[in-house]
Amino acid sequence: MTSLNLADGDPSTAAVDAVVVGVFDDGDGVPQLAPGAEQVSAALNGGLADALRRLGATGAVGEVTKLATFGAIKAPVLVAVGLGADDGEVSAETLRRAAGAATRALAGSDRVVLALPGALRPVAEGALLGAYRFAGYRTRPQAGRREAVKTVSVRSAEEGTKAAARAMLKRATTVTGAVAQARDWINAAPNELRPPAFADAIAAWAGTAGLDVEVLDEKALKKGGYGGILAVGQGSAAPPRFVRLAYTARGATSRLALVGKGITFDTGGVSIKPAANMWEMKSDMSGAAAVAAAVVAIAALGPKVNVTAYVPIAENMPSGTSYRPGDVVTMRDGTRVEVLNTDAEGRMVLADAMARAIEDGTDYLLETSTLTGGQIIALGKRVSGLMGTEDFCNRVRDIGARVGEPAWPMPLPDDVRKGMDSEVADISQVNAGMDRAGHMLQGGVFLSHFVPDDLPWAHLDIAGPSYNAGEPTGYLPKGGTGVPVRTLIELAEDVAANG
Ligand code: BES
Ligand code: ZN
Ligand code: MN
Repeated sequence: MTSLNLADGDPSTAAVDAVVVGVFDDGDGVPQLAPGAEQVSAALNGGLADALRRLGATGAVGEVTKLATFGAIKAPVLVAVGLGADDGEVSAETLRRAAGAATRALAGSDRVVLALPGALRPVAEGALLGAYRFAGYRTRPQAGRREAVKTVSVRSAEEGTKAAARAMLKRATTVTGAVAQARDWINAAPNELRPPAFADAIAAWAGTAGLDVEVLDEKALKKGGYGGILAVGQGSAAPPRFVRLAYTARGATSRLALVGKGITFDTGGVSIKPAANMWEMKSDMSGAAAVAAAVVAIAALGPKVNVTAYVPIAENMPSGTSYRPGDVVTMRDGTRVEVLNTDAEGRMVLADAMARAIEDGTDYLLETSTLTGGQIIALGKRVSGLMGTEDFCNRVRDIGARVGEPAWPMPLPDDVRKGMDSEVADISQVNAGMDRAGHMLQGGVFLSHFVPDDLPWAHLDIAGPSYNAGEPTGYLPKGGTGVPVRTLIELAEDVAANG
């Protein structure tokens, strides 16, 4: 893992592998040095901006230009990273992206100094998020593989004590460590992380943080009447699990429940998915990974709020023992659900987990899941879908915007609910006419059935944002992104501070 420390002194004389400076776009695609680059620029006799322009740099956000320094400064490599237009204050998200793009581009280096302008926290977080590398499963070292940067030094341009700056770095390490843990679980091969193994991995990670851990196996699930989790899990030779992780803070006055979908692989079951890109469904436990990783980080940060994570885990497989379209399933809360499509498995396991959270008692409930392809159609790969009670959703949206995990409010319309009336049971799992209209909303509407009217709750559909099948960009690697771990951590802190 990459470690962080505070840089002091002149970056041009630092004994490191690379120094990173920022460049703005002056408005015409001409690079302009940002604050922090002064000493390096002076050591290069003021020719740096012109050299960057000749090398094709424009200052676009996250653009990385590498230069050899041939002894002009102590570090052999100088990196200029783009910060976009200079409009006074550089935004937190721009700093995160720039720092992340720089540490990603410098994989293989031991020591790097970031001499960027602006606030310390986003630079530190972005640097660690961008440095992430998935270990993988190769039996022999990959030719040319460059490991994550070992040490990143960040400068603090901010006023304040060294102790405060160090605490900030510690916080960034905790938060990004949780993101890295979520990414590792998501990127894991699905045969390596079937439900019992995933439950064990979560329990082990949470145990070290001193959380109260409860794991229900298939027997306990049967005894507890978790019909939705059992129905989805019954087609797999690897039985389902349910994990509950509780962080209790001394003096806390509010309770927050976090529920995350943990389908370790989603074939669709009997309503099987097409083969193309099906392997991406190893990421169908991104919600579970996020809530489990987040509650461990929350416990380490220690805000005054009680936070409990609820993690239903199953593998959705087609087999002779699978659940089937037409089945009627009795859920944990007693609701009878008519199954119409076994590929709508997430809402089945989530409804049971939410019912348990509500039984335990909570003041706020946030559930997050890779629930629908419809989320990607509606909002794309970067913006999550947000449904639930208005005030709480707005709160989650504001936090998401602040941390760079955008989410946008979506409605839960009556007509969509009507379309889910069942001929035979209390509710259908999807639109009874198999109408795909408002697919994302159908998921939210189904889950809303299990929430009491007076409970502030939010459903965050992360189907697109949780997984990056494309090229790395900014601080986002290919594969699991760790969205929405940082939103969940800040939400807990926000509830601790404001109730
Ligand atoms: N895990 C999928 C949703 C998904 C799709 C996540 C693509 C990430 C990328 C979910 O279980 C699913 O299959 N949803 C169906 C719902 C339908 C059967 C009602 C969908 O979106 O098509
Ligand atoms: Zn799924
Ligand atoms: Mn599915």
